[in-house]
Amino acid sequence: MTDESEEYYANGFVCLPELMPVQVVSTLTSIMQLAMGNTLESQRKFLSGPDELLLPVPSYELPPTSFPFSYGFLWGLTPIMEKVTQKKLLPAYAWSRVYPKGAKCVVHNDRESNEHSLNLTLAYSDDIIWDFCVAPGRIADNNLDHRTAYEDFGDLDYVRTKMKPGDAVAYQGQRHFHGRIEPNPNAWSAHMFLGWVDRDGPQKDHAFDKFALPPPAQFYFD
Ligand SMILES: [Fe+2]
Repeated sequence: MTDESEEYYANGFVCLPELMPVQVVSTLTSIMQLAMGNTLESQRKFLSGPDELLLPVPSYELPPTSFPFSYGFLWGLTPIMEKVTQKKLLPAYAWSRVYPKGAKCVVHNDRESNEHSLNLTLAYSDDIIWDFCVAPGRIADNNLDHRTAYEDFGDLDYVRTKMKPGDAVAYQGQRHFHGRIEPNPNAWSAHMFLGWVDRDGPQKDHAFDKFALPPPAQFYFD
């Protein structure tokens, strides 16, 4: 095992600072904004929430269907996550989100498609770091219901991570509570959330998030 993977399994997460060059995540954020348009009116079409469970304040939600670039990151980062997890993985989940000022991501755990997760910070409008927190305590099998969320970590120990744009945190999203418990101090911040499953593990059926895959490619020449 590498130091990274030992930490990943000991604490349920490991920080991956400067996983992506800041120029890449900055450009990705610009492409995301282009996809959303240049006006409040066009961007508001992506507004979702409030979500009673996770997001008390509405945010801009970009599923991969409206921002397929997320799949490129998910699929392309697979070898990195295989190094961290020391497992053969398949990509499962990709989502991008822009939080407004004052938003929180309440404490929760993820569904099966986030057996192995990556939280990637793309941009802060005001360059103010917004802590991402993870509880090292592992959630027991009988308490994996991801439809529960909490205002804070309660009695649980948790660790703050200070992610700059381009930094990532790899974590076992299904097994460890996580969230952003303070209000977002920036006018907006952009993030990408990615998930993989062990291709031989208990969540293997959630590969590709159970979406129907296209048929095998055929190419034709005269
Ligand atoms: Fe999550």
